[in-house]
Amino acid sequence: MADKKLQAGVIGARLGAAHAYAYANSSEYELVAVCDLSPKALDEIWEKAKLPEGSVHTYTDYKEMFEKENLDVVSVTVPDHLHADPVCDAADAGIKGIFSEKPLTINLEDADRIIEAVNRNGTKMSVDHTRSFVPVYREARESVRNGDLGGLTRIVAHMGGHRSMLFRNGTHIVDLIGYFAESKPKWVLAVHEQGFEDYGIVYKGEGGKDPALDPGSTLIIEYENGVRAILNSAKMTPAFIEIDVIGPKGRIRADDTGGNRWLSDKVEGAVTHDPAFDHPGYPEFFGDALIPAVQEMAQMVLNDAVSSSPPERGRDTLEIMLAALLSQDGGNIKVNLPLPRG
Ligand SMILES: NC(=O)c1ccc[n+]([C@@H]2O[C@H](COP(=O)([O-])OP(=O)(O)OC[C@H]3O[C@@H](n4cnc5c(N)ncnc54)[C@H](O)[C@@H]3O)[C@@H](O)[C@H]2O)c1
Repeated sequence: MADKKLQAGVIGARLGAAHAYAYANSSEYELVAVCDLSPKALDEIWEKAKLPEGSVHTYTDYKEMFEKENLDVVSVTVPDHLHADPVCDAADAGIKGIFSEKPLTINLEDADRIIEAVNRNGTKMSVDHTRSFVPVYREARESVRNGDLGGLTRIVAHMGGHRSMLFRNGTHIVDLIGYFAESKPKWVLAVHEQGFEDYGIVYKGEGGKDPALDPGSTLIIEYENGVRAILNSAKMTPAFIEIDVIGPKGRIRADDTGGNRWLSDKVEGAVTHDPAFDHPGYPEFFGDALIPAVQEMAQMVLNDAVSSSPPERGRDTLEIMLAALLSQDGGNIKVNLPLPRG
C-alpha cells in the first residue's frame, strides 16, 4: 500500500458516476475530480455516485483537469466512438493508469493509436470489460488455468434481449470469450440476425445507444491455440448473458448471477456436478463491480501487476467484431485475423 493515496479523476459523468463511486470506495485512492462537457451531468453525479455534493472538483475540459490536478489514474467513460482522444491525451499527459470504458474504440486506427500512446508512455491501462473483474468469471478462469477441465477446447456463449448489439454490449461477451481463450483470434465467421443482412462493413452505432443500428450476430471464432468459440446473439430473445467453457474433462457454465462446474475423472467421460465451484455473480450496485477493477489498477500502477483486461485484448475484441461485419458482407465467409491496416 502506498503512503499517499493515488489521485483519481473521471472523464464522463454518466456511467462515470459508477467509476467515481469505485474510486471513492477503494482505500488506495482519493477521488479528486470529475469532468463532463455537460454541467447537467456534473450536477447529477453526486447522487448517482453516492458522493457528498461538491466533495470533488468538477471540470468541463479534461485538459484543464489534467493541468490543475495531479492525477495518477483516470477513467475514460465518454461514448464508445470518443475514447481514443482522452485516452491518448491522458497517456501523453503522464497519467500513470487509465481505466477506459468498453469497447476499446470502434475502429482499428483509434485502437492502434491508443496502444501506441500507452506503450510509448509506459502507461498502465485496463478496459472495462467488466466481467474480467467479476468473481464468478475470475474463478472460472482460474479453474481453467489450473487444468481442472483438462485444458480448453470449446466455448459456447449467449447474449440475448433487445440489447443484443454486437458492438455496444456484444463487446462484453466477445471479450469474455477472449478472456478464457487466452490466445490470439485466428479467424471469424459471422451470420447476422435477420434484418441486418446488408449492414455493411462499418459500425454505424455512434454513441452506442440505438439497438437498430447494431446487429446481433452468430459468430464462430477460432483461436491460434485451437480453442473454437460460438456466440449466439439475437434480439427477440430473453435478456441474458451466459458462457460455457468446455475442456476434455469438464465444463463451467457462468452467467451474471453465478456459475456451475461439472467434472469427469477421465477425458471425454461423463460429467458430474461439482458443488465445490460456487461463486457469486455481479454485486447489486454496478459501482461495486468496478471496485476490484480500480483496485487492480492501483496494483498495476504501484507494483507492476498485470491487467485482467488489457487494451491488446480489447483490440482483438474489436478486430473480431469488425471481422464479423466483413464476414457477413462477403457472404458469411471466414475472415482471417489480424485485419489488414490502411
Ligand atoms: N461496462 C459497462 O457495463 C457499461 C455500461 C454502460 C455504458 N458503458 C460504456 O460507458 C461509456 C459511456 O456510456 P454512457 O451510456 O454513460 O454514455 P452517455 O452518452 O450517456 O454519457 C457520456 C458522457 O460523456 C460526456 N462527454 C462526451 N465527450 C466528453 C469529453 N470530451 N469530455 C468530457 N465529457 C465528455 C457527455 O457529455 C456525457 O455526459 C460508453 O463507452 C459505454 O459503452 C459501459
